Amino acid sequence: MKFLFINGVNLNLTGKREKSVYGTQTLEEINADIAEHFKGDECEFYQSNCEGEICTAIQQAKADAIILNAGAYTHYSLAIRDAIASIQIPVVEVHMSNVHAREEFRSKSVISEVCKGVICGFGKNSYILAAESFKL
Ligand code: DQA
Repeated sequence: MKFLFINGVNLNLTGKREKSVYGTQTLEEINADIAEHFKGDECEFYQSNCEGEICTAIQQAKADAIILNAGAYTHYSLAIRDAIASIQIPVVEVHMSNVHAREEFRSKSVISEVCKGVICGFGKNSYILAAESFKL
């Protein structure tokens, strides 16, 4: 299978910011672990801090499934929601932290409704669990 992992705003700082929440591994290290886990599959990784660039990546995706951690955009980006709704490729929303155990604003997602499913709270394994769901 071909998986496209998209990370949104501030996720480039993973391993450097809020280490007690997001851990100490960098995004590059997490992506390497994901690629190793799925070594029989094709994995593409994309990160952007820009909402429109994330929409373009979703629009232009060539993959069997998209695993999307939109970061804070999850909570208010109607543009990303519409981009997901515009494509046929299934998208799984993921979060490394358990967004329901944190500030109230993180419990609200404007993208969940147009995603195939949601996985949160398992650190880097949230990405792996989301992709594994397509192999069951
Ligand atoms: C996050 C949770 C979001 O609320 C936050 O804005 C992030 C990361 C997560 O992976 O837990 O940037 O998506």
